Amino acid sequence: KIKHVILSGGVGSRLWPLSRKNQPKQYLNLFKEGSLFGMTIKRNQFLTDSLLVVGNKDNYKLSEETLDSMQVAHQQIIEAYPRNTAAAIAFAALASDPSDILLVTPSDHLIIGDEAYAEAITAGIDKARSGYLVTFGIQATKPETGYGYIEYEDDQVRSFREKPNQDTAESFLERGNFLWNSGMFCFRADTLLEELKLHAPNVYSAALKTWKSSSEGWLDGALSKEIPSISIDYAVMERSTKIRVVKTAFEWSDLGSFESLYDYLVDVGHPVDEFGNMSIGTTQYTAFVGLKDTILVSTADALLMVQKEKSQDVKHIYNILERHQ
Ligand code: GDD
Ligand code: MG
Repeated sequence: KIKHVILSGGVGSRLWPLSRKNQPKQYLNLFKEGSLFGMTIKRNQFLTDSLLVVGNKDNYKLSEETLDSMQVAHQQIIEAYPRNTAAAIAFAALASDPSDILLVTPSDHLIIGDEAYAEAITAGIDKARSGYLVTFGIQATKPETGYGYIEYEDDQVRSFREKPNQDTAESFLERGNFLWNSGMFCFRADTLLEELKLHAPNVYSAALKTWKSSSEGWLDGALSKEIPSISIDYAVMERSTKIRVVKTAFEWSDLGSFESLYDYLVDVGHPVDEFGNMSIGTTQYTAFVGLKDTILVSTADALLMVQKEKSQDVKHIYNILERHQ
């Protein structure tokens, strides 16, 4: 059986004030098709047999609302505390039969090109059946430091490097045989658990202990706190020798910052002035004078003005302004 696993633990702090603690970016109705969460479900519905959402106690109701309105059968795992993706994925595997194929996806990415997507996933599922940890690679177009990089030759992975520094990212781009990691994975549940046990035994045993004392998908808080907080990329992907990659042909954006939202909005015809300034969510007429590549974001109770190339820094505001979350 093929199970779609949605990771829905993140809050999207780099899109403040659009996304808030109680309104994370994957649930925002940013698009005419609805939310990223809803679009993620739809895209995978016909490629998989069942759905498992790994979320947390702050957002599971938002997931539930969307799932109910879409009338999609599903299972939820509800984390007491987010312990990062290695643990979240371990729970999904522990909740499955050993031979189940898990297609793990984030909840908050934008993907365009249904056919190319289906093709990539079908190829990934095939490789996962043979006992590999399958990654999905995106053609790298700039030395982005917020992504994982896959050094590849055909479907073989020579190395996986999570979040390199600027110089390293630039050298990867120059060398050319690197793809961005899309953050989606496909594997058999047992393959993942074996590799996690081998490369991150502390995460494996703490997650197992937490899982065993959970009931109906609700995870124990005290035990969760003991789980090392590490991403699957660092814990397993950088270390395993069983990684394979499927090179994808769909259009992909993780909408991880206002810069990538800006790029997307430009593509779909959202207005931008001759100096590259854009306003999002404003209802008044807005003018920019003497400014360049500036993004103005307006919500009912907060305004943000940010220079496009500083978009990554918005997360600092989010962290400071607890009261606006
Ligand atoms: N349930 C749950 N619990 N989900 C989580 C948790 C958690 O503790 N932490 C993160 N997630 C979810 C996020 O909501 C997101 O959908 C996904 O897991 C990935 O986490 P991010 O925090 O967004 O990771 P990242 O963007 O830094 O890096 C990953 O994605 C990149 C592509 O966007 C890595 O896989 C990179 O290698 C990759 O390039
Ligand atoms: Mg991300």
